[in-house]
Amino acid sequence: MRRVGVFLDDFDPFRFDHLNLAAAAKEAHGLEKLIFVPIPLPDKKEKSISHARIDQRYRMCMIGLMGQSGMEMIPYGLVYQAESALSLIRKIRRAYTDAKCFFILSAQTLLRLAAQPQFKGIRDSAFICFRTPDFKADGVLSSLVREGLDISEVRLQQELLSDRDCRRQFAALTDPAWMDRRVIAYIALEGAYLPDERKQLRKMLTTHRWEHSLGVQQTSIRLALTYGGNILKASQAGLYHDCAKCLTVKEMRHIAEVHHLTNSAEVLHSGALLHGPVGAVIAKERFSITDGEVLDAIRFHTTGRENMTLTDLIVFVADAIEPNRENYEGLERIRALARLSLKAAALCSLYTTKKFISSRGREYDEQGLKTIAWLEGELNEQEKEWMKDVVKPI
Ligand SMILES: [Fe+2]
Ligand SMILES: [Fe+2]
Repeated sequence: MRRVGVFLDDFDPFRFDHLNLAAAAKEAHGLEKLIFVPIPLPDKKEKSISHARIDQRYRMCMIGLMGQSGMEMIPYGLVYQAESALSLIRKIRRAYTDAKCFFILSAQTLLRLAAQPQFKGIRDSAFICFRTPDFKADGVLSSLVREGLDISEVRLQQELLSDRDCRRQFAALTDPAWMDRRVIAYIALEGAYLPDERKQLRKMLTTHRWEHSLGVQQTSIRLALTYGGNILKASQAGLYHDCAKCLTVKEMRHIAEVHHLTNSAEVLHSGALLHGPVGAVIAKERFSITDGEVLDAIRFHTTGRENMTLTDLIVFVADAIEPNRENYEGLERIRALARLSLKAAALCSLYTTKKFISSRGREYDEQGLKTIAWLEGELNEQEKEWMKDVVKPI
């Protein structure tokens, strides 16, 4: 008879621990294949921003399982609107009559299920359980074994992280090392586990600006994946970078004066130069963004600065190349450079802006000039080679 492992969990969020547990159970019990089953959360949790929805948890698992052999997802139709973990187990047993199923689940979940009257119908199943750090009911688990339930345990060498600790790290915008970066990118795109203020942001922007902001967010995530940046920070800074862009210059100036953002009369009269620093204030005050790196990337997204961080560079370049950008002279060159080097792409973008402003007979911003000088000094020989056809504006 085939031996099939069925891994039931919240997967909230899905992470390497889950893959390692599955692999350990597979090895210990000679399982031919493993099926991953995200289980329903209570209604209140399902709708809370601290948790991911069932479709998001399903997709996280799916992305995390890409490239893993012998591990697959249960069809989505079975988990979508499933009433309970028990009803899922019953359905799976009926679907796999030709196999011996081993249900892999946390000790906590097993005890929760065992306490329900409908558990009677599945008591003869084989269970493989693992202990989460908060599990304290060893006595109850042992009594189930004494009652004759087929329960074995699987353990990892390192202690498992609790779901709650994982979610806390997302809220602090720490790109976790305990999760596949493709899954982090998905979480960032979905805005899962973070307060959803997109509706509020949408109201502050024109349709054109909103679509541009989404484009910058997506491009920032892609660049963070490519260049090893912090995906969650890049995503947030990308989304909010133009939050002040649709205010009038008078409104921006008022905020700039109240917060003593600049003494420069030139900056105080330019929406183009003010919306970055003013945007950082709005992001902090209205959208409760507190991360310094995110706020700096918003603040300097127009001019750049000396010693730009990786997040600064990512958002700066994403702003210049996002797919909704209307074509401008030099756009394709910047896009091509962005595949090779963020610094070269940022420098090329600044040259383009400087050229454009000079062509209108205006003076180029002082901060922009400093960034250009810094980036020129930063390029290595290879990056200079890539830029050799880019003409430096006078
Ligand atoms: Fe902007
Ligand atoms: Fe922008």
